Amino acid sequence: MTLSALAIRSRKRARGDAPLVMVTAYDEPSARYADEAGVDLILVGDSVANVVMGHEDTLHVTVEDMCHHVRAVAAARPTAHVVADLPWLSYHLGVDESVRNAAALVRAGAQSVKLEGGRVRLGVVRALLDAEIPVMGHLGLTPQSVLAFGGFKVQAKTRDAVEAITLDARALQDEGAYAIVIEGVPSLVGTHVTQALAIPTIGIGAGPDTDGQVLVWHDLLGLSGRTPAKFVRRYADLGAATVEALRHYAEDVRAGTFPDESEAYANPDGLFD
Ligand code: KIV
Repeated sequence: MTLSALAIRSRKRARGDAPLVMVTAYDEPSARYADEAGVDLILVGDSVANVVMGHEDTLHVTVEDMCHHVRAVAAARPTAHVVADLPWLSYHLGVDESVRNAAALVRAGAQSVKLEGGRVRLGVVRALLDAEIPVMGHLGLTPQSVLAFGGFKVQAKTRDAVEAITLDARALQDEGAYAIVIEGVPSLVGTHVTQALAIPTIGIGAGPDTDGQVLVWHDLLGLSGRTPAKFVRRYADLGAATVEALRHYAEDVRAGTFPDESEAYANPDGLFD
């Protein structure tokens, strides 16, 4: 049975629950593998802009791009909960447009949507919940704010900023968000916000004490082709394995050793008599 937003909402490590495991995925095979590995949530993240489409930031993906990838992930029919990112500018221009865009992601196969920002987004969160769409929040180093932040910088490094992120997190919870991603903050801030909430936090670069963790597929598997951020743990080097396999294939083709007879279709008797 698919893990619902309602079931995720009550998962807190402080109550003895197991940490939530979330990973990004953008296509059918990766969603299938993630599900086979038993993750709890698959995030169709707007990080697709960076790791799949080759952009420097996430500001270049559209709702159509996201729907395309959500459809591919949903085709795997995962047991894991599928949450999709509302991309930049899809929830900033009014509640009606926000609901329409979130509904497009749901119709593509998402079971909930994630949006960035705290108190400033409460109207949109309420409208999405009124339309029966579960909402996950995202606070801290929110990548869609890269221009406003002046780069990808660790957030919540002052007491005022910690107070602000805590108020944002509480406001999202009180409005009805079922979980909140906390990204790029000192680990004590991850701990503090997690303790301040009754809903789960899912950390990325937020230390070990959040109620769950999320990593980007390409970072976790060594497929990103870039120096990983400090918080990334690489569990495989599939980039190197991929180059090695392709090099081997090229060698075999050039040497005339691929394909061999076992890899060719049999010739019908008398075909060229
Ligand atoms: O788009 C994404 O991959 C994300 C994660 C970094 C949480 O939002």
